[in-house]
Amino acid sequence: MDARALISLLSDGEFHSGSELGTKLGVSRAAVWKALGRLEEFDLEVESSKGRGYRLKGGIHLLDQSRLTNLLSSQVQNEVSLEVLLSVDSTNQYLIDSELNYEANYRVVLAEQQTSGRGRRGRTWISPFGKNVYMSVGFDLQGGVEALGGLSLVVGLAVVRAIKECSTADAQLKWPNDVWIEGKKAAGILVELQGEATTGWSIVVGLGVNVEMSDKQAAEIDQPWVALGQYLSCEREVFVARLIDQLVEVLDEFRVKGLNAFIQEWREVDLLHDREVAIVGSDISGKAEGIDESGALLIRTDDGVRAVNAGEVSVRPHEA
Ligand code: BTN
Repeated sequence: MDARALISLLSDGEFHSGSELGTKLGVSRAAVWKALGRLEEFDLEVESSKGRGYRLKGGIHLLDQSRLTNLLSSQVQNEVSLEVLLSVDSTNQYLIDSELNYEANYRVVLAEQQTSGRGRRGRTWISPFGKNVYMSVGFDLQGGVEALGGLSLVVGLAVVRAIKECSTADAQLKWPNDVWIEGKKAAGILVELQGEATTGWSIVVGLGVNVEMSDKQAAEIDQPWVALGQYLSCEREVFVARLIDQLVEVLDEFRVKGLNAFIQEWREVDLLHDREVAIVGSDISGKAEGIDESGALLIRTDDGVRAVNAGEVSVRPHEA
């Protein structure tokens, strides 16, 4: 039985009897009972009460593929193919494993849960069911490796733009593309690619945004984090639509004009600007002085300005 259909029937948080659920789903009560047990896979707590039936405590609002498509701007609707999954190991891996030749310019995959969500530098991305945003966008990109550094930076800008459209939160970017709000991480980006400069690249941009997360779910997160939900003035679904709109707009422009068209905007949300930083695991430390045209972080050290292309930045004093 389709778990999504069962969850949708229970989404209002009210009690529904086993026979009502069975009739609506066209299955026996025994099949309903079995399927309810399987909702544990999604960490969903189903309460049962004699005579009243079953309910999903607190209800839930799942992303709906057709509603989401209708929320996109009409131009973006023509450029993307969209798929919403209930659960997957990793949306990035799903796109990497699938055929990347498709008719739309961008292939977008969202999941309500990831069982092996991955973050940068081999970290795990904690991905509980039905609350946050786990999204990957696949597309082809022509050009040399120099295009790739800028790419991961402009994706961060798309996230900041969407947050600003849907909230009053003061979102900033911690180089290269972590999205921070009030000194804590709200979203992360993982760009993965296949190919080479001569044939072009198949890019997968993975985006994780913490929207609502309980302390229990977040217990394993090993850095300061914040959930965007408390700042949002729209539903998660509307926010996702704005996110896709902004991503497509930014990527379309980046493919024509490159990073130069975005440097000013990036500087305006640069969390590290003028702060004392160090590159973890290296001897590079000094004052951050923004980015250059290739997207490298500029750090004024005792030996002059160094351009850093990769690495994790720590900020002193211990604010970030
Ligand atoms: C980071 O460490 O900051 C990057 C996190 C990226 C997480 C997203 S969630 C959707 C996509 N699928 C994954 O497995 N990872 C990315």
